[in-house]
Amino acid sequence: MLSILFFFQAPLAPPTWEEPYDAIDKGIICPQFSVPAGKTAQEDCLVASVYVPNTNATNLPVMVIIHGGQFLVGYGDVTTPKQLVDSQKLIAATCNYRLGILGFLCMGTEDIPGNAGMKDQVACLQWVKHNIASFGGNPDDVTIVGCSAGGSSVDLLMLSKLTRGLFKKVIGMSSANVGVTSVQLDPVEYARIQARRFNYDAANLYMLRSLTLQVNAGNHKMYLHEYSFVDNDSALIPYANIRGAAHCAQGFAAVDQNYSNLSYQYKNMKSIIREEWINFAITGNPTPEGCTAIPQWPPANAYRSPCMVFGQTVELKPTVMPLRATLWDLIYALFYRNPIPPTPGF
Ligand SMILES: *[C@@H]1O[C@H](CO)[C@@H](O)[C@H](O)[C@H]1NC(C)=O
Ligand SMILES: *[C@@H]1O[C@H](CO)[C@@H](O)[C@H](O)[C@H]1NC(C)=O
Ligand SMILES: *[C@@H]1O[C@H](CO)[C@@H](O)[C@H](O)[C@H]1NC(C)=O
Ligand SMILES: *[C@@H]1O[C@H](CO)[C@@H](O)[C@H](O)[C@H]1NC(C)=O
Repeated sequence: MLSILFFFQAPLAPPTWEEPYDAIDKGIICPQFSVPAGKTAQEDCLVASVYVPNTNATNLPVMVIIHGGQFLVGYGDVTTPKQLVDSQKLIAATCNYRLGILGFLCMGTEDIPGNAGMKDQVACLQWVKHNIASFGGNPDDVTIVGCSAGGSSVDLLMLSKLTRGLFKKVIGMSSANVGVTSVQLDPVEYARIQARRFNYDAANLYMLRSLTLQVNAGNHKMYLHEYSFVDNDSALIPYANIRGAAHCAQGFAAVDQNYSNLSYQYKNMKSIIREEWINFAITGNPTPEGCTAIPQWPPANAYRSPCMVFGQTVELKPTVMPLRATLWDLIYALFYRNPIPPTPGF
């Protein structure tokens, strides 16, 4: 897992190997809202594919294809150039670059300077320049190709001083550097809009932050839970195509509902949550001595550990969403603004 310090930064230098490296396609793609079957989305996603023709010829022209997808979706091998390479006249490469917020959040600060995804594209071209001769390609004869967001990309790469000497020719299609998907007119405002959307969807993340503040303020009997129980036949969340507990789902589980059409599992969960609430209301402890419905549950520390998860099973876990919570800690540390007191008499 990547350290959070690398988020939003230019990519690190690529690794080097002393021995031949077995470069198997592991289907790694950058995080995006819908992950195709057979692919693995992970933050450490900067991989390139090289397509080499079945020839012993060397110094072949090189084509680097930059994928499209609105800078939000896609991956290097979303289209493949096997037929181009079968001509035996060129060698081709594709690469991933970071997408969406991870690729393009831009605060104009040292921590989040912006355009990480474009810097990934530059890093890909640098890698090709330094390595493609070993695959039979000519590092001084690179053509970059892109359509849609890839078209914007190649157009932008032509303008950047960072790409001097990295390619000679460009095939740009169906977008350009002034397209709506190419320019963030007000990146900090866009970041605010995104943050508002996250707050709306992710109350639990600022709850985690509050828990730390409460414990630090001396409230030591804070019981951290995650309620993630869902019925198997509940509706899928649009786009994410997963099932998840809705806003306030635990609250609804504890209170009255029409029992005539509830699953056995949900009825059982309702009784567990009621017991938890009742225990807590009586003793200040959700699992006092003699409680059998829920495993023993100690209060959380300031590092949000442990956490009782009410999912398809009920179990105590060491923590909850550690990476996302750390990201939010960082955002709070860097950008949190205290409310501005009103000016008297204004
Ligand atoms: C490449 O060279 C090797 C060794 O000379 C030879 O065995 C092989 O057939 C050649 N491959 C092609 C595709 O020409
Ligand atoms: C969901 O389905 C699995 C397997 O089909 C079953 O074991 C489980 O009890 C079901 N859970 C709920 C909440 O319906
Ligand atoms: C409970 O739900 C059933 C259908 O699932 C319905 O027929 C019934 O009228 C509901 N009862 C109440 C009190 O709303
Ligand atoms: C009861 O639940 C089933 C399956 O969960 C669903 O198909 C049906 O429409 C529900 N009936 C009512 C009256 O809500």
